[in-house]
Amino acid sequence: MRDLDEFTVTDETLSQMAGTENKRLKEIGDAAVRHLHAFAREVNLTPEEWLQGIGFLTAVGQACTPIRQEFILLSDVLGLSAVVNALHDKKARELGSQSSLLGPFFREGAPELPLGAQIVEKPTTEEIVIYGKVTDNAGDPVPGALIQVWQTSERGQYDLQERNGESMDMRGNFRAQADGTYFFRTVRPLGYSIPMDGPVGAMVTLQHRHGMRPSHIHCLIGADGYRELVTALYFGDDPYIDSDTVFGVSQSLVVDAKADPASPVPGLRAVHYDFRLAKAAPGESGRVGADPTKMMKAAE
Ligand code: BEZ
Ligand code: FE
Repeated sequence: MRDLDEFTVTDETLSQMAGTENKRLKEIGDAAVRHLHAFAREVNLTPEEWLQGIGFLTAVGQACTPIRQEFILLSDVLGLSAVVNALHDKKARELGSQSSLLGPFFREGAPELPLGAQIVEKPTTEEIVIYGKVTDNAGDPVPGALIQVWQTSERGQYDLQERNGESMDMRGNFRAQADGTYFFRTVRPLGYSIPMDGPVGAMVTLQHRHGMRPSHIHCLIGADGYRELVTALYFGDDPYIDSDTVFGVSQSLVVDAKADPASPVPGLRAVHYDFRLAKAAPGESGRVGADPTKMMKAAE
């Protein structure tokens, strides 16, 4: 028996965990212990602070519901989701258009709509059109690609928030035509605040951050043999375009709705965006995230 101090306890912990059979679990568990111990030593963590941290994580767990994933939100505002996204893209055999965060408001099973349909049930502001082509990296069309889109309303809330998850709005699934083209109508979504009424919002407030995401439309595009593309289009004139609270914006995803003679719906301001899909390695997916309602079911 040897007496342990704040340094030697790290090796002792790792040695007790040494029998972990799953190699990847062992790698992750060992690194977590090393970094957690180093973190506590670096900040000289006090018992009160340790308890506060445990209280915070407990509150984050308690804020999770079938339609709210506070842990993902925590990961988002701490930049961890953006890091995981970037690491995941680095491993891809080939990349298409720039990816972005899936976010917590994706829902499986949105209605499949005919091209040109309006995704907002009762638009109360100017309609716009989003159009373009889905191609591979060589520029050849990807006919039949499934384009799933979802966004906030002109009031800045998702249907999961406005309708409490009871019915869907501001989302729809479309199929690209034989030449890869797609188009749909919507309204310009309003940039919105991440949910600030929980422990993550309290943390963001303490950090003097605004908590806003710039106006955006999420897109999840897939086709057989291609890596699923999780991305979003961001409106460049939004005041928060350079300070997204969850670090999802890239230059190549910034768009503008403007008068466009080539628009498939004459008279409506249009956003033209062509998506490129990358060829997938067998079993490869571009998705980082999940439908929150499915996550709670998986955990039950
Ligand atoms: C979103 O894009 O909807 C989102 C992403 C991260 C946190 C909150 C919202
Ligand atoms: Fe979003």
